[in-house]
Amino acid sequence: MQYNLRLRSQMVMKMREYLCNLHGFVDIETPTLFKRTPGGAKEFLVPSREPGKFCSLPQSPQQFKQLLMVGGLDRYFQVARCYRDEGSRPDRQPEFTQIDIEMSFVDQTGIQSLIEGLLQYSWPNDKDPVVVPFPTMTFAEVLATYGTDKPDTRFGMKIIDISDVFRNTEIGFLQDALSKPHGTVKAICIPEGAKYLKRKDIESIRNFAADHFNQEILPVFLNANRNWNSPVANFIMESQRLELIRLMETQEEDVVLLTAGEHNKACSLLGKLRLECADLLETRGVVLRDPTLFSFLWVVDFPLFLPKEESPRELESAHHPFTAPHPSDIHLLYTEPKKARSQHYDLVLNGNEIGGGSIRIHNAELQRYILATLLKEDVKMLSHLLQALDYGAPPHGGIALGLDRLICLVTGSPSIRDVIAFPKSFRGHDLMSNTPDSVPPEELKPYHIRVSKPTDSKAERAH
Ligand code: AMO
Repeated sequence: MQYNLRLRSQMVMKMREYLCNLHGFVDIETPTLFKRTPGGAKEFLVPSREPGKFCSLPQSPQQFKQLLMVGGLDRYFQVARCYRDEGSRPDRQPEFTQIDIEMSFVDQTGIQSLIEGLLQYSWPNDKDPVVVPFPTMTFAEVLATYGTDKPDTRFGMKIIDISDVFRNTEIGFLQDALSKPHGTVKAICIPEGAKYLKRKDIESIRNFAADHFNQEILPVFLNANRNWNSPVANFIMESQRLELIRLMETQEEDVVLLTAGEHNKACSLLGKLRLECADLLETRGVVLRDPTLFSFLWVVDFPLFLPKEESPRELESAHHPFTAPHPSDIHLLYTEPKKARSQHYDLVLNGNEIGGGSIRIHNAELQRYILATLLKEDVKMLSHLLQALDYGAPPHGGIALGLDRLICLVTGSPSIRDVIAFPKSFRGHDLMSNTPDSVPPEELKPYHIRVSKPTDSKAERAH
């Protein structure tokens, strides 16, 4: 922990040097008592002394940094504390820190090269140096190749589309899938799977696919006939087998996991299995993911909107509502908004999203249209930002790096809690001081809060 916190401090110091001394950025603190605004993660509420009125802890300084651009502070950065009232995971805490950056008169490549330089400059001397520029893939490419938008690119096992090999197949579930619109057959190759995987591993892979994705998995040995080859594999014709060996570049001991179905569903299943199998092989001593390797990747051309989880006919922003559409897709906003791509980019490191940002909408009219017409948000809540854009905002864009996640990966720690001083538990508690804690009723009175006694102790425990 001592090592982690000292390294964190050194890296932040170098980042400040790079941004302020070498690139003319201004370090500006922004408020952490703000108001509730639409879009994005769930915010923590802070009660006020005015009945029925609340502040909110910002989930990021997004609106402030855009307002600073309108105010002429054209290079802003901050080591910013952010708060999100969402469940904890090894890479997530309710309070965390961003290296938050915004610039005027910049495009996507401008932000990307600034960040590549920043990481190179602040990288610890005793680690393998950061090689720039980082590779870039589109959202559609990463989904098709790795089944996720944050792929671990330290190892292969890429998803291959083998639909064309099976156009005339006799295998029922492949036939079924290919007869449907967007139906595909896809596969990944597990290197030396025959040597390291057991029959029960293959069974649990098949059960996982059936239980979580309602999908069938066909394990196949293309280069040798193993006794636990699936009987269905006997229906693969010799010409198909040879074509698959060519497409998937399989070796003697490799196992191919084949599935069929709608493109996105098949890809996300194989993306999960790719990681599961890598975990499994590593428990058997095969090193697929070199722990000393840092494999950065930019993911670009995300969709601007996604269907809302709770009501898929409505739209929500894939990043946040201030993200600018892709210049070639602006017309789609008025015809087929679901198809519009955005100028949103994510930075991925070894399978973790360590940063995200976008070029912003700087035209008030377009911002109003997206908020009110497409996202059905109450624009009055954001009138301060819309008014500022109306004054005439410079074109601008930015990014936020998740500092805790970055340091966690640099130090090879299993959780971001290992690089945060006084971290919270998975349930968002500080166990040392017993936070959150109860407050006597008389202290709650000024805030117009009355705590009702829980009636169902079981429900309370579950909560
Ligand atoms: P975004 O929501 O993608 O973008 O966040 C940026 C980065 O912050 C990190 N992060 C977290 N780290 C720890 N715990 C969490 N709960 C948590 N949530 C996010 C991730 C993520 O990539 N305002 C925009 C940035 C912008 O558009 O400029 C924003 O906050 O590493």
